[in-house]
Amino acid sequence: MSDGRPDPPKPSQSLSRAFAKFDLDGHDLPPSPAPSSPRNGKRYAIATELVYTEGSDQYGASSTPIYQTATFKQTSGSGGGEYDYTRSGNPTRTHLERHLAKIMNAERALVVSSGMGALDVITRLLKPGDEVVTGDDLYGGTNRLLKFLSTHGGIIVHHVDTTNADKVRGVLGTKTAMVLLETPTNPLIKIVDIPTIARATHEANPAAVVAVDNTMLSPLLQNPLDLGADIVYESGTKYLSGHHDLMAGVIAVNKASIGEGLFFVINSTGCGLSPFDSWLLMRGVKTLKVRLEQQQSNAQRIAEFLESHGFKVRYPGLPSHPQYQLHNSMARGAGAVLSFETGDTNVSERIVEAARLWAISVSFGCVNSLISMPCRMSHASIDAKTRQERAMPEDIIRLCVGIEDADDLIDDLSRALVQAGAVNLTTEGSFSAKDLGEASPKETVSNDIY
Ligand SMILES: Cc1ncc(COP(=O)(O)O)c(C=O)c1O
Repeated sequence: MSDGRPDPPKPSQSLSRAFAKFDLDGHDLPPSPAPSSPRNGKRYAIATELVYTEGSDQYGASSTPIYQTATFKQTSGSGGGEYDYTRSGNPTRTHLERHLAKIMNAERALVVSSGMGALDVITRLLKPGDEVVTGDDLYGGTNRLLKFLSTHGGIIVHHVDTTNADKVRGVLGTKTAMVLLETPTNPLIKIVDIPTIARATHEANPAAVVAVDNTMLSPLLQNPLDLGADIVYESGTKYLSGHHDLMAGVIAVNKASIGEGLFFVINSTGCGLSPFDSWLLMRGVKTLKVRLEQQQSNAQRIAEFLESHGFKVRYPGLPSHPQYQLHNSMARGAGAVLSFETGDTNVSERIVEAARLWAISVSFGCVNSLISMPCRMSHASIDAKTRQERAMPEDIIRLCVGIEDADDLIDDLSRALVQAGAVNLTTEGSFSAKDLGEASPKETVSNDIY
């Protein structure tokens, strides 16, 4: 105290003295479970890292408990506890964040209430007048948020074909504050050269950040931070959780200063992931490898099946993909999302409706297989004119492959193709894609890489 008198005992100290044999402050208890999943110097293979955690829960719970609480009792009148209010921090969330940081090769990871929430937090690093360079085949929700920022937030957004590094260089400059990339893009499955664009961005403006949406591949298959990105984000709603039973967004960074800026936004806006959803996401992450490997091997078989029957298939696991080499230079697998064209929007609609095992649904990454027409569903928020300018075929069908038996999936798709009249049947019972001739949207909306 300033008058030189000793500090009066704090309430908890006086209580502790009065009840000396009771551990009122909990100091004798093990620490909260948050410091689990330590980086103890040794890096294991990803399959091990995904499941390996070291809980220090007081009861030795093997699944980190859900701290379903808004507030935490303070150890003294002036605070001092590790946690005080769940908007600012919660042990279940911290446990997940540390686990994800390890898996994503990041200095820090943060979890929020959805993938779009993650992008919202990231774009709050921008100021009016800042320029953003991004792709022309973005997830519809990303496109919508960027449009809002350009009309309401004074942000200048350049949409270019990010598969062409020269087109990106053409719009980079000292005002570029952020380059936002998705690879593979969805549903056109175009590949973006992260290292080349990250280098060009930092040359144009060393202060600019490169943010990569890694939702399509997950940390199992690609680590953008190792490829030169400053921020990586993912919709945890997809592969990371894997069961379509939660919404979440994950952000990972390599610089503590960027992490602090992002945490400031999360704490200020209150979008941190809830304790229960943090627990669910933690559970999902542990099975990422077994799920995604099965999904990917099914996807490869289905892509080969469709291609061998004459459909134009977009999947980076096919050597016919024009950026097959580039994709494999960055990623450890092709993922489990592919798209194909039929040449006729009505035929595509009939295929989607005829499929039974393939549920008609937006989103991807779930253990169940899904089928959709992006122009009618996930990308419907991009107006038809813009879709045409961006060479998005209206008939494109997206397949998000699950963990079912691959033969069953192929049988169901074959039946839907026949029922929809998408194929010519031969007398021997085999079939091939119908050539729908000059009216085919394939010709009218093809883009430079296909
Ligand atoms: C590539 C991609 N990024 C981000 C998002 C947004 O994630 P969420 O739906 O969790 O907000 C999605 C959602 O479909 C997506 O496909």
